[in-house]
Amino acid sequence: MKTLIDAAEIRQRVHNLGRQISDDYRHKPLTVVSVLTGSLVFVADLVREISTPHRIGVAHASSYRGKTTVPGELKISLSLVPDIRGRDVLIVDDIFDTGQTLKRVVEAFESYSPSSIRTAALLLKEGRSTVEMVPDYFCFRIPNVFVVGYGLDYNDDYRHLPHIAEMEEADL
Ligand code: IMP
Ligand code: MG
Repeated sequence: MKTLIDAAEIRQRVHNLGRQISDDYRHKPLTVVSVLTGSLVFVADLVREISTPHRIGVAHASSYRGKTTVPGELKISLSLVPDIRGRDVLIVDDIFDTGQTLKRVVEAFESYSPSSIRTAALLLKEGRSTVEMVPDYFCFRIPNVFVVGYGLDYNDDYRHLPHIAEMEEADL
């Protein structure tokens, strides 16, 4: 595997994003929602860079990913999300690939009457989107390669790596 984005670069971008979110949500009832499991590490770092008071919730999204992803196979659970009625929700995921996950999570949140919903992703994979939306915030644009680390997995491994690594043919 080769390092695509090192820990220092991630720290810098997450710091800047936290500052931007702090400015955008000053005096607003913000709830940051971590889409598990991939965004766990990112959200843990991001919330500590957001200086305006906010709440944290978690949602769970999982897809049965083989060589193809069928949107209908995505499972979303909001059972652990705190009450978001009238609150400004920022949904955070690890990576925006086809965009199906974030799109579906946003739709699931809409029925809980938040006052606004925005999305953030650590990574934005180029040329892969199949949806109209784009994340409101992201840290890095990456080419169409498979990456792991900083929360992202390959068959549930490598999430603990402090950097983002690119999986090469030999690793898969
Ligand atoms: P989307 O629904 O196609 O946007 O995919 C989003 C989800 O797919 C992410 O939350 C990840 O769990 C997974 N995913 C997509 N690309 C990668 C990758 O390069 N490495 C690890 N997981 C990925
Ligand atoms: Mg995943």
